[in-house]
Amino acid sequence: MFTANDFIPSQYSQTIENGHFQWSVPSNIALVKYWGKKDNQIPANPSVSFTLNNCKTITKLSFDKKQNTGNFSFDLLFEGKPKEDFKPKIQKFFERIEIYLPFLKEYHFTIDTENTFPHSSGIASSASGMAALAMNLMSLEKALNPVMSEDYFYQKASLLARLGSGSACRSVKGQMVVWGNQTNIKGSSDLFGVEFPYAVHENFKNYQDTILLVDKGEKQVSSTVGHDLMHNHPFAERRFAQAHENLDELISIFENGNLEEFIKIVESEALTLHAMMMTSMPYYILMKPNTLEIINTIWKFRNETQIPVCFTLDAGANVHVLYPNKDKEKILQFIKDELVDFCQNGQYLCDEIGNGAIQIK
Ligand code: PMV
Repeated sequence: MFTANDFIPSQYSQTIENGHFQWSVPSNIALVKYWGKKDNQIPANPSVSFTLNNCKTITKLSFDKKQNTGNFSFDLLFEGKPKEDFKPKIQKFFERIEIYLPFLKEYHFTIDTENTFPHSSGIASSASGMAALAMNLMSLEKALNPVMSEDYFYQKASLLARLGSGSACRSVKGQMVVWGNQTNIKGSSDLFGVEFPYAVHENFKNYQDTILLVDKGEKQVSSTVGHDLMHNHPFAERRFAQAHENLDELISIFENGNLEEFIKIVESEALTLHAMMMTSMPYYILMKPNTLEIINTIWKFRNETQIPVCFTLDAGANVHVLYPNKDKEKILQFIKDELVDFCQNGQYLCDEIGNGAIQIK
């Protein structure tokens, strides 16, 4: 069993004056949801996600050695232009991870970042964004300590990403990632995400995720506030236990490819997440009328056609439509015919299960 202390380095063998790295890192979509946390971004329950392929953040990190003046020093560029409002989040991230990367104050950093998905699409870029920054920082640490193993590199990258945004720790690798201790999943940890370690049925190969953009506005209640409302939530303990049960069931579903059972768990998880929001105090609703229209239309279509298409939701109004690759053509036609009208400006994004972070050389 790892402890966080295992990721505090002692000494580096190399020095390095300046340079840059660049990583492209995808977003992910949870099937069993992380909702509620303890101190230090430790999840209240385990979760599992599909890593995505097309919705990505591409971040270049340039670094120059400087006098250690006791402060973090960095510039932040978004799509090539300075972006001051992202800086406090990065400052806080650096403060949280400094113990794991003691060189941070010895460099001036330029973080140059962009997303492949439209800005203000209502798609959270914090998962891919924080994970992309974490990968770059690990490249720098590896340059300072070249003997580092690949396992350590990815585990620590995920641990750092977690401290930026919990769900970000599931974006480092593909294709299915578990985060949080689960007795029946070997190697699972609260500290970092691990690749789902068991057999996965053909049915889940190239699984598709079409993201319907229902509401591109800023959320009224942030995830940080939402997680916090799980403290003293009347249903919290039952919910956390349920996430363990659902994850256990998914282990055999992933192996036997039973899509009917898969759909039951995935849709129930999505609605439970939103039920937790609706039963918080204060209570709130992030779904929009069109979110419900889409859900009902998917249910009707599934009933009529027996095609195993289902939905999941993250902490917002957008709907992720999940379906096997073999049904792609029919589902894309169904989306065009029946769901596009419920999307803001008719917008949706086609994605699928992917392989995680890639370094751009
Ligand atoms: O990573 P955070 O703190 O933004 O939390 C996101 C939580 C959900 O997206 C709602 C669920 C999940 O497991 O990703």
